[in-house]
Amino acid sequence: MNITKHTATVLATLITLNVFSQKALPDFLWGVATAAYQVEGAYQADGKGESKWDFLSNKVGVTQFIIGQKQTGNVAINMYDRTQYLKDIQLMKELGVNCYRFSIAWSRIIPQGVGAVNEKGIAHYHQLIKDLKEAGIEPLVTLYHFDLPQALVEKGGWSNLESVQWYKNYADVIFKNFGKEVKKFITFNEPYIEFFIADFLVNAPQSKQPASLRYANEMINVHHELMASAEAIKLYHSLNLGGMIGITFNLSPCVPFDPNNAEDVKAVPLQDELLNRIVLDPVFKGSYPANALAAIQKYSPSFQPSASDMQFIAANKPDFLGINFYAPAQVKHDNNAPMGVTWMGNNTDSIQSNGPVRPEELYNLLMRIKNEYNNVPTIITENGASFNNNEDSVVDGKVNDVLRADYIKRHIDAALKAQHDGANLKGYIVWSGWDNFEWVFGFTKRFGLIHVDFNTQQRIPKQSYYTYQSILEQQRK
Ligand code: FCB
Repeated sequence: MNITKHTATVLATLITLNVFSQKALPDFLWGVATAAYQVEGAYQADGKGESKWDFLSNKVGVTQFIIGQKQTGNVAINMYDRTQYLKDIQLMKELGVNCYRFSIAWSRIIPQGVGAVNEKGIAHYHQLIKDLKEAGIEPLVTLYHFDLPQALVEKGGWSNLESVQWYKNYADVIFKNFGKEVKKFITFNEPYIEFFIADFLVNAPQSKQPASLRYANEMINVHHELMASAEAIKLYHSLNLGGMIGITFNLSPCVPFDPNNAEDVKAVPLQDELLNRIVLDPVFKGSYPANALAAIQKYSPSFQPSASDMQFIAANKPDFLGINFYAPAQVKHDNNAPMGVTWMGNNTDSIQSNGPVRPEELYNLLMRIKNEYNNVPTIITENGASFNNNEDSVVDGKVNDVLRADYIKRHIDAALKAQHDGANLKGYIVWSGWDNFEWVFGFTKRFGLIHVDFNTQQRIPKQSYYTYQSILEQQRK
């Protein structure tokens, strides 16, 4: 289908479906999300240390490999600046959300990763949390969203077993300073995506190691993050602060790229283990899924998580599961791909960056968590889209992003239908409130409900902002 036709179909759907079907149960969290490196800028302000992403973007120039030019989050969308973020809080208030998910930059709190605590960094987040609460917006705080202090990267980063203790120490500082004001924390955002986007994809062209080996080697990092998360959860629970602590996974239901290709169909269960169960099962069931583990150990025989590690992870479960959902993974059998299966880069949708728009897969995912993972409480901590059809351009001072508006509406519908059908869903948060620095893609992919001019920092709420606003209005009635 061509783009104009696609847009016309969507518009027709928007017109016919203007009455929103389900109402969320009481106390539902409605929010928007960001992450420190993608929005804060001020990369050297107030004693901040260098982070992995400061290093990757400035010194390695990672965006160069993907978009052909060097871009950094040095300024990003200027949200470290209080004058700026107060305006952004005002926009959230007008939008009608009751929750803001953001992350704390470890390198602002402990510039070298371990050792001295930077009081100015602590003061910044205290002020932000206070300002949010005064606006009636609950902070949902991610402790770690991809940005390890560079000093720790130089000590081996997450591949070093000591990383578990580094993180526990950082978490302790966070809980002691913010545990009274913040009632919801997330230990990690998307273990393993961090390694894929930064280390795996970017190093791929230069690396002499076979892809499967590099892929398998990333697993030790993931395992250490899961151990670190369990340590932080244990610590948090022991402090009796009266709040909740969760972990966020990127979960993508696996579907065959070509449903008529028997090899693709056969590849789906292994891909599901490698993508979804690889993090869900250790945390909620106490073991890595067998086929994925065997595939990883084939290349990386030293990956042998001990029984006591597995018990520790499962004994310190999160209070809720954060789910980042964008699209299903379209799985292909491919002998050249790590483990013979791949979803990366497979996308039958020509204009949505992350994969085809399939809200029903969000429904299926939530029902799967209900049925297979003991109906653990869930929060959709990210859901959103970036279309490469120019719908984010400013025309006459307006941004008419009809496809994103439609995407958000249909995913909320699917989420609330799952809640209605018994899924233990506690919140829905859009990625993102604002266009921002999209990792290796720099500023070339926009996900915001609010358009940002990256040169002037001017904000323009898009059509999707107004759509979300009217959904929230209806929800409050
Ligand atoms: C997720 C990341 C988030 C953002 C979105 C588009 O994987 O958690 O930081 O980049 O994708």
